[in-house]
Amino acid sequence: MTANTRSDESGIDLDDIGTNPTANPSFTDLIASRLSRRHLFGLGVGTAGTALLQACGGGGGGGTSFPILPPAPAPAPPAPTPAPPAQQAPLKLNFNAVAKSLDDVVTVPAGYTASVLYRLGDPIAAGVPAYANDGTDAPSTYDRRAGDHHDGMTFFGINASNKWDPAGASRGLLVMNHEAITPLFLHPAGQTVVGGVRTVADEVLREFYLHGVSVIEVNKVGNTWTYKQDSSLNRRVHTLTEMAFSGPAAKTDYLKTKYSTDGSKTRGTLNNCANGTTPWGTYLTCEENWAGYFRRIAANDDKNRNTKEKASFSRYGVASTGRELWATVTPDTADDLYGRWNTEVIGATATDDYRNGHNTYGWVVEIDPFTPSSMPKKRTALGRFGHEGACLGPVVVGKPLVWYMGDDSRNEYIYKFVSTKNWDAADIGGGIASGDKYMDDGRLYVARFNEDGTGVWLELKLGVNNITSSYDKYAFADAADVVTNARLAADAAGATKMDRPEWTAVNPKTGDVYVTLTNTNAASRPITKTSASNPRYYDDKTTGGKSQLGNPNGHIVRFADDNADPTALGFKWDVYLFAARSTASADVNLSQLTADNDMSSPDGMWFSHAAPGLLWLQTDDGAYTDVTNCMLLAALPGKVGDGGAKVITNVDAGTPRTQNTFVGKAPGTEGLRRFLVGPKDCELTGIAESGDGRALFVNIQHPGEGTSDIKAPISHWPDGGTSRPRSATVVITKNDGGLIGL
Ligand code: FEO
Ligand code: CA
Ligand code: CA
Repeated sequence: MTANTRSDESGIDLDDIGTNPTANPSFTDLIASRLSRRHLFGLGVGTAGTALLQACGGGGGGGTSFPILPPAPAPAPPAPTPAPPAQQAPLKLNFNAVAKSLDDVVTVPAGYTASVLYRLGDPIAAGVPAYANDGTDAPSTYDRRAGDHHDGMTFFGINASNKWDPAGASRGLLVMNHEAITPLFLHPAGQTVVGGVRTVADEVLREFYLHGVSVIEVNKVGNTWTYKQDSSLNRRVHTLTEMAFSGPAAKTDYLKTKYSTDGSKTRGTLNNCANGTTPWGTYLTCEENWAGYFRRIAANDDKNRNTKEKASFSRYGVASTGRELWATVTPDTADDLYGRWNTEVIGATATDDYRNGHNTYGWVVEIDPFTPSSMPKKRTALGRFGHEGACLGPVVVGKPLVWYMGDDSRNEYIYKFVSTKNWDAADIGGGIASGDKYMDDGRLYVARFNEDGTGVWLELKLGVNNITSSYDKYAFADAADVVTNARLAADAAGATKMDRPEWTAVNPKTGDVYVTLTNTNAASRPITKTSASNPRYYDDKTTGGKSQLGNPNGHIVRFADDNADPTALGFKWDVYLFAARSTASADVNLSQLTADNDMSSPDGMWFSHAAPGLLWLQTDDGAYTDVTNCMLLAALPGKVGDGGAKVITNVDAGTPRTQNTFVGKAPGTEGLRRFLVGPKDCELTGIAESGDGRALFVNIQHPGEGTSDIKAPISHWPDGGTSRPRSATVVITKNDGGLIGL
């Protein structure tokens, strides 16, 4: 979601509020010791070639190297990926860069076709009428329509038996998140709010259904992709869907509510941002900016809360009227459909109200898309924070599984989870039961980026790394407390504050892990709080002369776990890419971007599995939007350490200040090129490809989002004319049937 989606009463962008008050680094001092790059990056990644390197997020499998799911009960173990670099010709971007644009269209290079596939409101069950898109569609039908704000997405190829076939090229399940809503376009004239109260319950019901996840069957007939409206595999998961908890916090006091008095269940998922996959063939959806949906007026509630609860609310930012005011609807239903969004103490005990409702969100949620009746599971071992996504690391039989995760808020951290159990390919196709095996028991770590280009993974476990009952900011009680309050545990451990960690992606050629750090501002991270891994502070002046101070364009950090072992406790890092205007000064445009590849606020990021080494970057920008709409770029990155150490000079009101950092090799237009520019006021997010890589699925989120007058939408994409804009999935094919971008 972009920075201007929704504001609270004070005008603060809800997504951008940082709630990390710690003195964790940020390292404020310039550290003189810079290890030699030879020392830091001389370590090989030779063992990576033996791993089955799996694309996260957008790819349901490891490409053609991944075993096709067999119907037999004992699948063969995955074949190791052949060492690709020595045997394959180097990839080459093969298209003319798309120019920056403010037009209300989707632009792709010559030789490509982009078609709209699945729009907000499109029906996904027989008998549901086409979407009128004027606010009159029946609320009761929205549980069988596309949600709003399409986001992270995975393509699962399927065979004739409706089983997972990662190589599936013409039929699949497209599973995608619906992060949030643009309320103005959903009802006759936006939300009906009288005196701070939602007075039309049907409008709220629409909004409940428009969040969550879609599972839709898509088919290629001839050269055209369509979704199948009446497929028995279609499913919507939304804020009313029942879900189970598993892992350390399940069935503990932290999760007990009136709805689930033993803390084993909750209803719904929301603010599902980026995504992830598992090697057994399920989908992970990640709950990002959930805190703002809950109503908790501190002046009412604090008197009923203990010190720890108040510390937790403060750290997670649970203190508002609720961004969509869902808790204000009266009368409530017998099952507290609306009141469950009020997380204040109102009853006698925790099983009489929803005082713990906020604890039931902020998790990674597993969904088995092949079993529409299956109950999603919130995996508490992966911690509770503002989960952007969960990218699966290299998959190797006999080794633990690893997921890399960002916490998207200003000054938050980067995490990884390492399973206790070693991967056994016999678990492919095991659905949620396989998840129980690998995702409920493991080690959760948070990253500290040292100033010398090294880093450390700090375990979040009771009794280690300052995570004890005597930690002065929060007295940790047990394992459930640690995962439920993972941000506080990471504070105690001394993690490094980052410039809003968004998507994570693992390069299948090298095992290097990439993390988009979308941006930050002067209020959240002043010039005195730069660090080697978050090094820039500058004024990005718009063409109109408006100052944008801080790191408004963002950057992409990457790291290599030591010895190419994803379970290692140390890593080496550098900054792969600094986003900037091509016209910016040398200490801002550190990656030497040009008119063909300059960009701002990288967010979505995903490595192709059909073309190992090809990286796709998507922007969610509010800084460079004086010049261009958001975009998708193709990249061919090198590896950690391919650049070098650099001392840059930051400037704040004329006061220069130096900062060391490590800058990756400048990509040039051979290594980074703009592939698509979206319509007005949209964000590009969510990306997946068919099993043969010949179709690229991309989401256009919230076109026209900044519209204030329903009669004059800023965008009319995709339907044109005077229509209201709609978030939508587009499918991109090359006219000659080739791989996309190459
Ligand atoms: Fe939902 Fe972090 O973007
Ligand atoms: Ca974002
Ligand atoms: Ca995002």
